[in-house]
Amino acid sequence: SENRIEGENIVLVGMPGSGKTTIGKLAAKALGYDFCDMDDLIEEISGQTIPELFAVGEPLFRQWETEACRKLAKFTHTVIAGGGGVVLRAENVALLRQAGRVLFLNRPIESIAADIDTTTRPLLAQGVQRLYVLKREREALYRAAGDEILNDTTPEETVRRICATLNK
Ligand code: S3P
Repeated sequence: SENRIEGENIVLVGMPGSGKTTIGKLAAKALGYDFCDMDDLIEEISGQTIPELFAVGEPLFRQWETEACRKLAKFTHTVIAGGGGVVLRAENVALLRQAGRVLFLNRPIESIAADIDTTTRPLLAQGVQRLYVLKREREALYRAAGDEILNDTTPEETVRRICATLNK
């Protein structure tokens, strides 16, 4: 534990529906950390909902997403659930790596497709098949952004592995 970085955040990245919010809340509880959902932070600082931002256009949403990353870089003791597309900009990834340890939640796309709620996600408005396109576009970016890849297992085991990364 001598390598532990006091106050370091945990940042979860991965596809929409990979469990960033669910796992992030559990991990925050286990660590005694705060929890921050990036999408909520974007809504807070922009004063608009995610669907409202996307209605204007994805570029506007991406601008606010980068703004949120700048804020997150100053957080401490927080588990952050990143937005699914946050890895698309190198600038965002640099800011998140400044914020803390970036972990890629690698959940099989078939599992995601089977239970994701597409109605609340503007990018999936045209249907679940879009997920496969997003995965192809992003897989390498998630892998490159992450300090570690957390392969699919039980939520309890994933939380245990997240806690363990703070002592490495
Ligand atoms: C997005 C994922 C969403 C949200 C926005 C864009 C994406 O977050 O940030 O709709 O580009 O994959 P979740 O991964 O929490 O669904």
